Amino acid sequence: MSKTKTTIGVSSRQGGNSGLSDAKKAKQDEFYTQLSDIENELKWYKEQLRGKVVFCNCDDPFESNFFKYFALNFNALGLKKLIATSYVPSAIAGKQLPLVEIEGLKPDGKEPFKIEINAVPDANGDGATDLADVEYLLRHEANIATPLKGDGDFRSAECVELLKQVDIVCTNPPFSLFREFVAQLIEYEKKFLVIGNQNAITYKDVFNLIKENKLWLGVDNGGTKWFRVPDGYDIQTESRKKIVDGVKYFSFGSIMWYTNLDNPRRHENIPIYATYTPEKYPKYDNYDAIEVNRVSEIPADHAGAMGVPITFLDKYNPDQFEILGITKTWFGGANKVYPNQTQVSKDGTNSTVSKLNDGATLKIKSPPSGETYYIVDGEYYIQLYARIIVRRKDKI
Ligand SMILES: C[S@@+](CC[C@H](N)C(=O)[O-])C[C@H]1O[C@@H](n2cnc3c(N)ncnc32)[C@H](O)[C@@H]1O
Repeated sequence: MSKTKTTIGVSSRQGGNSGLSDAKKAKQDEFYTQLSDIENELKWYKEQLRGKVVFCNCDDPFESNFFKYFALNFNALGLKKLIATSYVPSAIAGKQLPLVEIEGLKPDGKEPFKIEINAVPDANGDGATDLADVEYLLRHEANIATPLKGDGDFRSAECVELLKQVDIVCTNPPFSLFREFVAQLIEYEKKFLVIGNQNAITYKDVFNLIKENKLWLGVDNGGTKWFRVPDGYDIQTESRKKIVDGVKYFSFGSIMWYTNLDNPRRHENIPIYATYTPEKYPKYDNYDAIEVNRVSEIPADHAGAMGVPITFLDKYNPDQFEILGITKTWFGGANKVYPNQTQVSKDGTNSTVSKLNDGATLKIKSPPSGETYYIVDGEYYIQLYARIIVRRKDKI
């Protein structure tokens, strides 16, 4: 999200370019989560994992650090069972990122398979359960790795049958199928902890679940996370690319954990100390709410509706705030419809658009310099990125 300065203190407006849109293409879904990122999040849920069946359903066990994390920590977490299924059309399955190199064991990538682990004994007797024990298990227990009949699609009948048997789904699913993936988890009433793109917050189905407090964010969100990618992965932006020891990584700047498992973060109050003034917090032209462009700027002395950036959800405590809506057309919360308007782009070019109807809009006194703005009936407007409309629940 680009940041811009204006005379009325609005810091984030529409018109930026998200590198995440690349992930829409299926082949761009092939990016692999690092073990450290999984550990940083999973440490908050240890009690909730005890005695549970965990399913990694977009995870070739030989490539996935989700599988590795749960296999290595099987005993420490007190898991009942771990299931992982591979997806055969994966561009890299079995080719590039092997975590566990086991001669003759790894399927060739053409055949989807399932690994099911019910115990990880200290088979090599070294006093600890580690990757060597997992390897021993895979080598010596004939029924642990079995072929799937279909292609391993999380929506396939056999994967859905597995889903029905499990307690918790934990994975980084294909971003291009994120809506479907979450919808399936909700349909089968599963607990889950999954990685997704920050923009997924604004998807109708996802947002409605968030609003109903049926889905929320995990703990270790945002920041820059690096994902391992196949050599041929197309990365347009140099700053999002790095190669370490011959391995290529891609960074997403806005990755979120989505979950319905409780975590301590959502019970912490956001510290609130700013003072309301009408100048600092202008009212939207098309929503009954004031604009608060940073979560740290939420006014302490305002009890009404306010629009906050979607990153608010990273700090959201449902005991402190109520979510009223989002400034997207599909939500239907706007109190005004604009006619076609003239968009004046940063470079000064004019075009006729109807963009103001999908977002919160502020009326401004004069055209801002170096910014995209809109003209309707001789009045000037700017449009903001999606805002979540919230209201304080605690007394002020
Ligand atoms: C973002 S990658 C993450 C891989 C792994 N979960 C990890 O975190 O390292 C998503 C994976 O889902 C797989 N995938 C894509 N479509 C799928 C589908 N319909 N069913 C199951 N897996 C799928 C892709 O092949 C890819 O390996």
